[in-house]
Amino acid sequence: MADKYVDVVISKEGQEGSLPIREGTLGPSAVDIQQLYTTHELLAFDPGFRSTASCNSAITFVDGAAGILLYRGYPIEELAESAGYTEVAYLLMFGELPSETELHEFEEAIYYHSLLHEQVLSFYQGFRRDAHPMAIMVGVVGALSAFYHDHMDIQDPAQRVAAATRLVAKMPSIAGASYTYSIGRRHRYPKRGLDYSANFLQMMFGVPNEDYEVDPILAQAMEKILILHADHEQNASTSTVRLAASSGANPFACISAGIASLWGPAHGGANEAVLAMLEEIGTPENIPKAIARAKDKHHPFRLMGFGHRVYKNFDPRAKVIQRTAKNVLDHLGIDDPLLEIAVRLEEIALEDEYFVERKLYPNVDYYSGILLKAMGLPTNMFTAVFALARTSGWVSHWLELHNDPNHGIDRPRQLYVGSPLRHYPSGK
Ligand code: CMC
Repeated sequence: MADKYVDVVISKEGQEGSLPIREGTLGPSAVDIQQLYTTHELLAFDPGFRSTASCNSAITFVDGAAGILLYRGYPIEELAESAGYTEVAYLLMFGELPSETELHEFEEAIYYHSLLHEQVLSFYQGFRRDAHPMAIMVGVVGALSAFYHDHMDIQDPAQRVAAATRLVAKMPSIAGASYTYSIGRRHRYPKRGLDYSANFLQMMFGVPNEDYEVDPILAQAMEKILILHADHEQNASTSTVRLAASSGANPFACISAGIASLWGPAHGGANEAVLAMLEEIGTPENIPKAIARAKDKHHPFRLMGFGHRVYKNFDPRAKVIQRTAKNVLDHLGIDDPLLEIAVRLEEIALEDEYFVERKLYPNVDYYSGILLKAMGLPTNMFTAVFALARTSGWVSHWLELHNDPNHGIDRPRQLYVGSPLRHYPSGK
């Protein structure tokens, strides 16, 4: 709905014209430039999409300046405090909180689809034992396309919901199996009676010859981690999923593309990188050196877990995760020296002019690594947990894109800066 027009002066050839402004329910309005090329033969230049709204979306709202994150209108703090992950996944996918019956049916569907085809499990044997879990997940999730392709008519809304539910349901098994395979332990199947997070924990840590009792405090902490990471509007991995989806690609292939994008250290790989950084710093005395390196423009080092493309005040998820990390460490009686370094590093950075000026605050990944480590997860599983959590967000965006009848293929343009036309030398 374009309801306002703004006069724009295009200086190139003195042409004048007006462009529509689109208004959302919250946040800044957007100048609609869709016709800019047709009417003025001009492209918009925005590498990194700093000022580009790539789509309409009703799923998640982020106000970076105010530190606000809403899923379908609900503040993240309230959801992390009171909701369960499957309830949040339902909310993201379908737009409203489920009734008791709807939640029960959704959780039954999740449980029903949580098993992996035994042939999918046999794929794991093809990976090296030391393969990164994200490498396995990219492969295995993409390979699900081969199993469900014939039941996947993306024009059929019911089949779309089935595919989205399958993905959310199978991800704990896929992530859990990528860990157990790496340590040579048999994959444990999901167990009835356990919720989503508890099931993931028993698949990670249960051994085949023992019962595994899930610690409720750890299951609750995992629920919070999953809720906090479930969606974050048009971030790199979600935009990747949407771009892949826009061509009509199979949903499993689209989510696999999202996992690949998430893996990078500037995105989901940051929680793993934070821990590596804290370990490298080693003692509080080395913090000033690390800060100096992070500020040095000639050094590629950045303070991992600091800064965010959108949050220029604080990341509301970071506050919840910091509290949760402290509770879990107290509960487990862990006195982790890395936590001391993390707290001290944060204090020093927050007082440093460089970080203050650039509005660089701890993001969600700053404390999530410490929390996951305390819960016994190996470092290379951190991003896999993020991928598991983000799947509900990715499938929600995938559903939203396909529910929009006007959506065609996404195809950005470019500003060409290469050689002008030249000819292949004759006689060569
Ligand atoms: N340490 C030191 N300097 C930094 C950092 C940092 N972590 N982040 C940004 N800067 C500086 C940057 O060098 C630049 O300085 P200048 O203006 O002098 O050139 C300024 O701050 C603005 O940085 P930018 O690169 O334009 O910011 P961006 O919006 O492109 O990058 C970011 C956002 C998250 C990629 C970046 O802050 C970063 O690399 N942080 C570390 C990695 C990290 O923690 N990523 C997790 C993000 S949250 C989880 C998720 O959503 O996936």
